[in-house]
Amino acid sequence: MRVLLTGHQGYLGTVMAPRLAAAGHEVIGLDSGYFAPCVLGPEPADPEGHQVDLRDVTAEHVSGVDAVIHLAALSNDPLGSLEPELTYDINHKASVKLAQLAADAGVKRFLYASTCSVYGAAGDGLVGEDAPLRPVTPYAESKVRVEDDLVALADSDFTPVFLRNATAFGFSPRLRADIVLNNLVGHAVLSGEVRVLSDGTPWRPLVHAQDIADAFVAALEAPKEAVHCKAFNVGTEDNNLTVAQIAQHVVEAVAGSKLVITGEAGADPRSYRVDFSRIRAALPFEAQWTVKAGAVELHDAYIEHGLTRADFEQKFTRLAWLKKTGGL
Ligand SMILES: NC(=O)c1ccc[n+]([C@@H]2O[C@H](COP(=O)([O-])OP(=O)(O)OC[C@H]3O[C@@H](n4cnc5c(N)ncnc54)[C@H](O)[C@@H]3O)[C@@H](O)[C@H]2O)c1
Repeated sequence: MRVLLTGHQGYLGTVMAPRLAAAGHEVIGLDSGYFAPCVLGPEPADPEGHQVDLRDVTAEHVSGVDAVIHLAALSNDPLGSLEPELTYDINHKASVKLAQLAADAGVKRFLYASTCSVYGAAGDGLVGEDAPLRPVTPYAESKVRVEDDLVALADSDFTPVFLRNATAFGFSPRLRADIVLNNLVGHAVLSGEVRVLSDGTPWRPLVHAQDIADAFVAALEAPKEAVHCKAFNVGTEDNNLTVAQIAQHVVEAVAGSKLVITGEAGADPRSYRVDFSRIRAALPFEAQWTVKAGAVELHDAYIEHGLTRADFEQKFTRLAWLKKTGGL
């Protein structure tokens, strides 16, 4: 298939593009390039792509493609909370416009990168896709709004699919250090401390970037009936961990590091344990990576590629980088 991959120069897109190509698909990227220079290790070989802001996308960008995989977004809570209106403009309005242009151009399938944080403060029970959505941040709210609006676009010719990813982890050449496991391993490597700012009790489902790429390929290739206008949580119950449990894996992966739970950030309302049975039943998908293995992978990559504190705090931290480069 000919696939338009938005956000191809981001953390997940840089892992997904080669995975799609390996599965035999032709990939065309689309990205503003905010994080194009934010590379750890060898420069990745990006596919051909359009360098364009999502808000300026036209019919031309979606013409002649069979499917769109839409990753491009302001991709976390700190960014979203700093500039809620910008988050809604990019993540919500521009995403819906892209989907409308795709539907009008005869694109058959639209895979949308949503998030398990749409469940918000969900407590200790497992939440499935039909659970009430209670987003607690503008970022998560923007994802809910897109899902709602894309349902309205679905018809016999246009299949939106909502992939609600758990929080990602693992090495990508375009590293993100502002997601929990990547962050904790980085701090441990650079300072010897695994520092948890909450009280460690919130639940966080995690999933490796490569597993996310596999889930998207499976959803792209599945028969329409299996995915039409459906939501899928992407991850595995084995990686539903509390922040304290995640931190413990980091202590084990980084020799000599020690755990410090400061609790200084106070209570964190974002806590959810997720049921991933629907995606396993509907698609040939099973997450492969454990958090333990991911912590070791990250440790080894940080050492091999010589991660520095300056880069960890700025180049690989989305909000800090956008502030430095004037991207917002
Ligand atoms: N990484 C995670 O833990 C995670 C979890 C759940 C969902 N998601 C979703 O997956 C997607 C990708 O996340 P990521 O971790 O790769 O984030 P990222 O920040 O690394 O990548 C996002 C990409 O989108 C591009 N982008 C942002 N605004 C744009 C705009 N206005 N026009 C064009 N391009 C723009 C950026 O340049 C970047 O390359 C996002 O939609 C995110 O919400 C990520």
